[in-house]
Amino acid sequence: MKNKNILITGGLGFIGSHIANKLIEENNITIIDNLSTGKITYLNNPNHENLTLIKKNLKSIDLNDDLRGIDYVFHLAAMVSVPISIEDPISCNFENVSTTVNLLDACVKNDVEKIVFSSSAAVYGDNRNIPLKETELPSPTSPYGASKACCELYLKSFHESYGLNYTALRYFNVFGPKQDKNSPYAAVIPNFVNMILENKQPVIYGDGEQTRDFVYVGDVANANIKACESDFNGIVNIAGGSQISINQLYGIVKKTLRTDIEPKYLPERIGDIKHSQADICNLDYINLKIDNDKFQENLIKTINWFKQIK
Ligand SMILES: NC(=O)c1ccc[n+]([C@@H]2O[C@H](COP(=O)([O-])OP(=O)(O)OC[C@H]3O[C@@H](n4cnc5c(N)ncnc54)[C@H](O)[C@@H]3O)[C@@H](O)[C@H]2O)c1
Repeated sequence: MKNKNILITGGLGFIGSHIANKLIEENNITIIDNLSTGKITYLNNPNHENLTLIKKNLKSIDLNDDLRGIDYVFHLAAMVSVPISIEDPISCNFENVSTTVNLLDACVKNDVEKIVFSSSAAVYGDNRNIPLKETELPSPTSPYGASKACCELYLKSFHESYGLNYTALRYFNVFGPKQDKNSPYAAVIPNFVNMILENKQPVIYGDGEQTRDFVYVGDVANANIKACESDFNGIVNIAGGSQISINQLYGIVKKTLRTDIEPKYLPERIGDIKHSQADICNLDYINLKIDNDKFQENLIKTINWFKQIK
């Protein structure tokens, strides 16, 4: 992708900043971000001449001016927390669904060529029919999952009604440098690493035999770019396509950090799913291969990043 005008909503966040850093040398990048969780320091060069940074809340702006001349949109800004969405479903609907419909409307009015939407495996909810295929009926168990499913339907309807091209990417468990480690809802890898670096005992809920399907943030950024370049309209799971148990994961983190700290086991949390694994055949539609053999290497890169910001 070269010489394109690109808008990234949430471009200062964990995943969005990786996309921005990959594209900025050869494209003009506009980022809209309210800095609620994102950080300017996540960009390799916040003063890059190809960057326009609009520090605003996506929900409070008329987007027509910002979308003028834009070729492609990567839409990542959202309420990203499942527990917060359960506490405040009305805000979740507003921040995730209404803002997306507003953005889609502005895309149509400004002849945007394609939008790539960050969806989530939360759309599948507690569906146990693994490996999960994109054709399964959505079965979300949280307002967050429902909001993502709803956005996917809006994307399809805008494609049918107005010809707006789209790909929705359902991310499974993303990990990598820049993932938030301080949030009370921190994901499992930053949580393990952070606790061990602070000489504390990480918590595992349940027996630790629950499995997850992890995907490295660099692959997720590539997936966004490949999806944008493809002519595929529809939904694609973004995952490694394999399962690793939380106990296995802890073992690798423990070995890499050369620690003897054992995890503390607490009762399973209500709503936690037992197993998760994606069917990744649709990756072919966007011409992407994810190399699972690099899981350990990517985990080490991630651990080193957490050590360095400590
Ligand atoms: N990280 C994961 O494992 C994961 C998994 C599934 C789906 N997703 C989805 O991927 C997207 C990016 O997630 P992330 O992990 O990078 O999260 P993040 O919190 O790091 O990034 C979100 C970014 O959006 C910005 N933002 C939030 N609300 C905004 C608003 N109203 N206006 C303007 N900016 C706003 C934040 O400041 C932040 O920079 C989200 O849509 C999320 O739902 C992430």
